[in-house]
Formats: sequence, C-alpha cells, structure tokens
Amino acid sequence: MRTHYCGEVTAEHIDQTVTVCGWVHRRRDHGGVIFVDLRDREGMVQVVYDPDQPDIFAVAERVRNEFVLQVTGRVRRRPEGTINPNLTTGEIEILGTGLAILNRSQTPPFMLDDDTVSEENRLKFRYFDLRRPEMLARLKLRSEVARVLRQYLDANGFMDVETPMLTKATPEGARDYLVPSRTHDGSFFALPQSPQIFKQLLMVAGIDRYYQIVRCFRDEDLRADRQPEFTQLDIETSFLSEAQIMSLMEDMIRLVFQKTLGISLPNPFPQMTYAEAMRRYASDKPDLRIPLELVDIADVLAGVEFKVFSGPAKDPQGRVAALCLPQGSELTRKEIDEYTAFVGIYGAKGLAYIKVNDLAKGKEGLQSPILKFLTDEAIAAILERTGAQTGDLIFFGADKAKIVNEALGALRVKLGHDRGLLNQTWAPLWVVDFPMFEWDEGEKRWVSLHHPFTSPKESDLERLASDPGNCQSRAYDMVLNGTEVGGGSMRIYRTEVQEKVFSLLGISDEEAREKFGFLLDALSYGCPPHGGIAFGLDRLVMLMAGAHTIRDVMAFPKTQTAACLLTQAPSPVSERQLRELHIKLRNPPKVAES
Ligand code: AMO
Ligand code: AMP
Repeated sequence: MRTHYCGEVTAEHIDQTVTVCGWVHRRRDHGGVIFVDLRDREGMVQVVYDPDQPDIFAVAERVRNEFVLQVTGRVRRRPEGTINPNLTTGEIEILGTGLAILNRSQTPPFMLDDDTVSEENRLKFRYFDLRRPEMLARLKLRSEVARVLRQYLDANGFMDVETPMLTKATPEGARDYLVPSRTHDGSFFALPQSPQIFKQLLMVAGIDRYYQIVRCFRDEDLRADRQPEFTQLDIETSFLSEAQIMSLMEDMIRLVFQKTLGISLPNPFPQMTYAEAMRRYASDKPDLRIPLELVDIADVLAGVEFKVFSGPAKDPQGRVAALCLPQGSELTRKEIDEYTAFVGIYGAKGLAYIKVNDLAKGKEGLQSPILKFLTDEAIAAILERTGAQTGDLIFFGADKAKIVNEALGALRVKLGHDRGLLNQTWAPLWVVDFPMFEWDEGEKRWVSLHHPFTSPKESDLERLASDPGNCQSRAYDMVLNGTEVGGGSMRIYRTEVQEKVFSLLGISDEEAREKFGFLLDALSYGCPPHGGIAFGLDRLVMLMAGAHTIRDVMAFPKTQTAACLLTQAPSPVSERQLRELHIKLRNPPKVAES
C-alpha cells in the first residue's frame, strides 16, 4: 500500500513519485490550496493538493483530523522560506496526485499536541494517546533496550526460558494476585511476584545461565515507579561469584546506554556498602548526583538539655543528624515551613535549622530557633563537622533512626532538585553488604530485607540464630540516579541453611514444607552454587527516556487504584462464572450480570 513511511521521505526523493499511508495530523486550507500533515510511526510529511485536479481536490476537502489516508504524489522541494529544519521531511513536500480515504475518524477525544490533557483521558483513549510522537518514541526506546539486552545475553550464553504465570505464591513482600481454580474447588493459583523460585530450580536443572523478560504481579500501594504488573529482566547464573555477576551486569547496562542513547556510563560502577549509604545519604538507593551529605551528631548532643535532641541521641534506635545546604540561608521562613511540612509526611516531628549568616562572628553570626538550647561546644562541633560556610543553612533531624533516615533522605533529594544542585547526568551505583534481616515492629518478627532465598555471608552463618540483626547477606542492588533499577543476590543452595533461615523468619517446619517443600527437595538433589538479579525494565526505560513515571513507558498501564481505564478492568463477572469457580461474594456485585 505504500512505498515509504511518511517520516522517511526526504530531499533524496525529490522528483520521485511516492505513496505513503498515515493519519491526518492537521489539514489547512490556504486560499484554494489544501495542506495535509500526514503522520505515521516514523514522522510527518506535508502533502499539498491544488485545485488543478478537481476530483482529488474534492476528496481532500472532505478530509478531517485523524482520518486514515493513502496518498500518492511527486516529491518536490518546498518553496524558500517554508523549510522546516525541525522535521527530517522539512525540506520537501508531496504534491498530491492521488488520494484515498482508507477510514474516517470521529472528532478526536483531544488534540495530540495539547499537553494539558488529563492522564485519565490519556489512559481512557490510550490507543490515541500512543499516537503522540513522544509516546511512540518511548515505546521505540523500550523495544530497542529489550533488543540490546537480549543480544547481550544471547552473546554471553544465557538461555531464554519461560516460567509459569499460574503458580504458587513467591514471597517478594507484596500481596499476591490470586486466580481461582475451577478444577480444584476452593484452591487458588497466585500470579508470580517474580520467577524467583523457578529460576533457582532451573539452576538445579543445569541451565547454568538463564534470562527472561517477564511480567510480574504485585498487589501493593502504587507510586510513580510502581505498577501492579510490571516487567523484569530476570537473570540467574550458576558457578559465578557475585563479583563476576555484577561485572557481567554492569557491562550489559553500559552496552544498553551506549547503543540506544550513545551515553558512556562509568566503568566500573562505584560500590558502596548499605551502612555507608545510610550514614551519608540516609537511603539504600542514594542519588549520587546530589552533592549533599548527612553527618551524625548524636555524640555532641547527648548531653544538651534540649530533649528533642538528647532523647534520640541517647537512644540506641535513635539518630541525630545534620544536613548542610550550601547557600541555604537565603531560604525564606515560608520555604522552611514548607520543608518542615514535607518531612512531616515521613513522620518527622519538626525540622530544626541553623542559618549561618556570618561564620566569622561566631554565635552572633548564627540565626536559629534552637540556638538557646545548645552549648557553645555543641555549636562549634556542629559547624566543624558539617563544614558549614557563611551563607549556608544546617537542617537537623532527631528521632528513631528509621524516621530520621526517611525524612532527611527525602529532604536531601528534594533540596537537590529544588535548588538545582544535580552535578552529573547519570550516577550508577552498586549497594552491597545489606543486612540479612530487618525487625518488623508491627509483626514482632524478623523479615528478609531481600527475599528468604538470599544467602547470608559465609562468615555470618554461625551467628545467624544468635545475632540475626547483625548478619549480612550476599545481596547487591543496582541504583541509578536514586532509583533501584535492579536487585539480586547469591542464593542459599544448601537445605540446612534454607531451613535455618525459614525458621528465623518464623516459618515453621510444617509451613516451610507446605509452601516451599519442592524447593527444599530440589536443593537436596544436587543444587549448584548460584546467584542472579532482576532489573525493573519499566524503571530502567523510564530513566533512560527521561519520563517521570513508569506509566509513560508502558503501553497500557493501570491507574493509582490498579484499574485499567481503557477496558474497565477489573469488572464484575456473571453468577454462572462465579459458580463454576466455587465462589460466593461477601458483598453483592456492583453490576448484576446474567
Ligand atoms: P525485586 O523485588 O528487588 O527482586 O525486584 C527487582 C526489580 O524489579 C523492579 N520492581 C518494580 N517495578 C515496577 N513496579 C513494581 N511494583 C516493582 N517492584 C519491583 C525494581 C526492582 O529492582 N526475585 C528478585 C530478584 C533476584 O533476587 O534476582 C526480585 O524480584 O526495579
Ligand atoms: P519545639 O521545641 O518543638 O518548638 O522545636 C524547636 C525546633 O526544633 C523547631 O524548629 C522544630 O521544627 C524542631 N524540631 C522539633 N522536633 C524535631 C525533631 N524530631 N527533629 C528535628 N527538629 C525538630
């Protein structure tokens, strides 16, 4: 039906006759001449119809926005002064000699170049929204990224193996999506939160190097970088050390950036321990583009009378930290109040600060609501440790460590963006030496920081039961610009160790057998040492595309309430279907269907 894509017709084709197909982006009538901007996947081309050919001209007059056309014509140079350097087709136009309306369109739900359209409308008419060149470019980038990833993995001996979607729960820390079984009354499948257990079983099977670009399902609170179904690049290897796995994975990410964006990422990626990341950046996924760091000051404040500081300073679970913002003394009272409200979201009870108006003047040169509570020695120590200069502002956080880290960690990132402090474009990082467990105050038990199949460090095996809080795992996360793009670990490959970890997590022997008996069995039939990683493909592409949410790099994403506005899923089902599935609803269905 066509000889070229619209976006491919260039000055090279002048005087040739071409046929293109596409959608009417805009139709303009210019004193007897009709201009049609025709758009397809590859771009836009200008078509001109003049009244010399009355039949065709009459058809052109009936054309409206988003009609689907087949256009034949001769390529000619645009007249001087009408050249558009922003388009690849900007030097030429097609003088139309043929025109077929292949299909009509209703009045479009919105204009494609209107960037004020609500996301709700965009999602409802997603097939239309995806016609926007910006959205097409993102899907194209995503496809290219996936292609390069596959090429790299194929070249390195990885085998693409599919794993089941109808399966048993995999504990990755979220709620499961369940699917009722018709053939087993009262039983349910779970959709995979990840293929974690299956990929380990593939290592037991001897696959050696596995990968899969795979959909995962997690019923959790959604955010800009989380969707209920999302895509992982899932990887597992046998007989490699963590250093070897990390090096392979870095090479892969560097290659993807090089091939798709022409960007060279550092080689090697820097590495940082979890402890250092928390201490300096109050985050296990620090954004290293932001040159702000926390400093601990509990020791200098343990003795002061101000309870807000001395309390947490003396509490082993507490943290007292300062964050110095260069040139921060120019912040207004209102701005400081806004930052105080911001840290409040994370549970901080306040946001003390000191403005350093003139360092040379000592205490006189400082301005702060808490100065009166601090000793001269404490003030001197704070100034010294933060390295504050005249014009700076020091923020303080004092509370349980968890609250201080969340509040100041988020404040650090917000200040970095608000104040334009980002000093590099791409900052990849490995975070290593994670704790094995975290104490869950609500449930009063230890939970895995990664997942329960993550191996403890060999040197911590002995004290696993006696001192779980201080055991480290062999996990590693890849962080890019403050987003966790990938997480992985060396796995437990010995039954005794796996049983020990289950029991530490409060999973009884019976429960372990019932839930993971097949895994424990598999470990006992010759399981090789193995480890792997999974990347969040949506997150990676979001960062590469400069998009603000992963929804913008997914063709058909869900809303914040995990619904699809296009298909209206989820939706009620008929009584007959429910009966077949042995299900009786607790509440009457919203819409009764026969
Ligand atoms: P993890 O749970 O860290 O590890 O997931 C791996 C990566 O997947 C991405 N991700 C998400 N992306 C979008 N929406 C979500 N709801 C979502 N949840 C996670 C993140 C994350 O880094 N089986 C292990 C991997 C392993 O140990 O090999 C796992 O699933 O980018
Ligand atoms: P207050 O004594 O409650 O008026 O607090 C004095 C100053 O300390 C104010 O600037 C508060 O914002 C700040 N502040 C109160 N609680 C905390 C806290 N937990 N961490 C940091 N600053 C705090």
